Amino acid sequence: MIEGYAVPDFISDFWHYYIAAFTVAGILFSLWLLWSQSVVKPLAPGEQAEVMHPTWDGDLQELNNPLPRWWMWMFYLLIVFGIVYLVIYPGMGKFEGASGWSSAKAWQEEKTRVDAEFDKVFQPFAGKDLTVVAKDPTANKMGEHLFLTYCSQCHGSSGQGATGFPNLTDNKWLFGGTPDDVKASIANGRVAEMPGGLAGDVQGAKEVANYVLSLGGKQHDTALAAVGKAKYAACAGCHGEDGKGIAAAGFPNLTDDAWQYGGSEDEITKSIVKGRKGGMPAQLELLGENKVHLLAAYVWGLGGGQKPILVAPAAPDVAPADATAPAQ
Ligand code: HEC
Ligand code: HEC
Repeated sequence: MIEGYAVPDFISDFWHYYIAAFTVAGILFSLWLLWSQSVVKPLAPGEQAEVMHPTWDGDLQELNNPLPRWWMWMFYLLIVFGIVYLVIYPGMGKFEGASGWSSAKAWQEEKTRVDAEFDKVFQPFAGKDLTVVAKDPTANKMGEHLFLTYCSQCHGSSGQGATGFPNLTDNKWLFGGTPDDVKASIANGRVAEMPGGLAGDVQGAKEVANYVLSLGGKQHDTALAAVGKAKYAACAGCHGEDGKGIAAAGFPNLTDDAWQYGGSEDEITKSIVKGRKGGMPAQLELLGENKVHLLAAYVWGLGGGQKPILVAPAAPDVAPADATAPAQ
């Protein structure tokens, strides 16, 4: 059960009593209304109902006929139904109802049931090497569907990205492109933050922006870039002296063409003035291990995936012969 969902949304007991009081008052009022109308006795055979208004439009009259009994009983039954309902189901303020039913619990049960069903489909790929899963057409199709459901709103339907949301199909990675890196990005989320105002005012930012463009060998204003060079000292700690960033640490390379926020002079200036803070929401808790695994394989296989880092076999556990070692 997801914590917090089963708790009724009352911030204080006041609202619980407020709603409960209105509910009870509503029922009592309906009862009183019905009772007050039943006091009017049904007409005896041959008796004429009281005339409320004089005749108009020729022969139209308004009479005060008592309400039909069957109609009254229908309303009494409705009230009984309402009371029984309020005893069984939640509705009376925060009283949970005798059955303990709640929409949150019903949702959770349904989700558990569906998850169990889908896990059977995902199971064959669970724990399998991501590079192998990425080549499996069935896994790929499932990964694509999951991506369209959970990721496309930010990264685009084919992972091509958008301003502020990285392209996942190229081989430029903010946080690394090995299968494990990609899976970690998806499972645990990523946050990368650059404070704003590091180059002083907008003019200062524009100068550094031109220096950044020069680092990437792109068209720039040489006079501005020359002034910006000194100010770039404030950037080098994260983006490196050469502007190539720190791969896999989330400090982007400023010399390539993969821009998360845009690579024009204006856009770079804006990044520097405002600062940037991209957030990739963690998915593991929401989606579970099996879906994250399929998504990682799918994203890795979109074209930009880098080779897994092979772990070198452990050195043999034998100490080298050493002449100076004391004889056993
Ligand atoms: C709310 C928007 C949002 C959603 C939804 C989202 N992402 Fe992201 N994702 C981002 C942002 C923003 C970044 C870059 C984070 C940063 O700049 O620090 C990112 C980064 C990534 C990265 C790392 C990219 C790199 O260059 O290293 C991967 C991989 C990724 N997302 C995959 C996914 C997958 C798969 C899903 C669907 C389960 C998903 N994302 C859903 C916004 C989102
Ligand atoms: C504390 C580390 C840090 C410092 C210092 C820093 N940056 Fe950044 N910068 C980042 C991070 C992290 C990101 C990525 C933000 C994101 O993913 O949302 C970034 C993003 C950027 C971007 C956007 C890149 C894109 O792909 O659109 C530009 C441009 C940039 N920095 C330039 C600079 C310049 C110029 C300076 C110096 C004035 C500087 N940064 C100083 C960490 C830093």
